[in-house]
Amino acid sequence: MTTQLTRDAEELKALPRAGRRAVVMTMGALHEGHATLVREARRLAGPEGQVVVTVFVNPLQFGAGEDLDRYPRTLDADLALAGRAGADAVFAPSVDEVYPGGEPQVRITAGPMGERLEGASRPGHFDGVLTVVAKLLHLSAPDVALFGQKDAQQLALIRRMVRDLNFPVEVVGVPTVREDDGLALSSRNRYLSGADRATALELSRALRAGAAAADGGAAAVRGSARGILEAAAKLEPPVLLDYLALVDPSDFTEVPDDYAGEAVLAVAAKVGTTRLIDNVPLQLGAER
Ligand code: PAJ
Repeated sequence: MTTQLTRDAEELKALPRAGRRAVVMTMGALHEGHATLVREARRLAGPEGQVVVTVFVNPLQFGAGEDLDRYPRTLDADLALAGRAGADAVFAPSVDEVYPGGEPQVRITAGPMGERLEGASRPGHFDGVLTVVAKLLHLSAPDVALFGQKDAQQLALIRRMVRDLNFPVEVVGVPTVREDDGLALSSRNRYLSGADRATALELSRALRAGAAAADGGAAAVRGSARGILEAAAKLEPPVLLDYLALVDPSDFTEVPDDYAGEAVLAVAAKVGTTRLIDNVPLQLGAER
């Protein structure tokens, strides 16, 4: 099966539809995490259905001083990987194709959830994400769209947008894919030196320690994870912590110490010149 490459929105719209259409949106520099989403899309679309992967580095979601210019662009390898994972078509538009006439004046506003955690550190980021996701949903018109739990706040906001604005699409979340040693796969991992990578492992280690303390409640989870991150701040290179948060996955507010229910333990930190995020879902206050 050959994977069709299209750079043109009209061409994408003109793709003959067959069965269920599943879409996986990416910024390229594809890795096994993305491949897992594409395989799951293939499963959900079925053999008669259609899997479309979008590859677009969205300028709208990068702040001043972020890595827009150095973000890895590897379209040939992306096409091959998407094809191996089961994609029928790859939509890789130019910036002009997505934003003819420049940046859009009318945008999606992510609301309060978009101002917490990642949104506090990266003002405007989630407005940029939701605006491009809305546009790509319109252009690709899928029955189902898949997103990774790796970007838990992004996934929650996309679910919220789809619900609040009645997008006719089913959103499916896919668990985080990790290296054997726990490091969450990310396109930005290729920025890490060997020493950076060793330090970066402390993030997933802290999350595992937090999750292992879930029986002791929210304070125990926070304490366990924080202990590891405090030690990791003394490594060379250090973990430069942005935030560690234990939040309610429906709105990303901090959960109280006596909270019972689903929670997400999320971390963001800089290692060397690279900003990394990771998280783990956990259950608090389960009957003992
Ligand atoms: P990108 O970072 O390329 O990620 C594309 C999709 O792959 C997202 O849904 C992300 O959560 C998922 N993903 C990345 N690493 C993963 C991992 N280790 N395990 C499981 N899923 C993983 O997220 C974006 O692009 C953009 O913000 C986008 C939604 C495309 C809008 O521009």
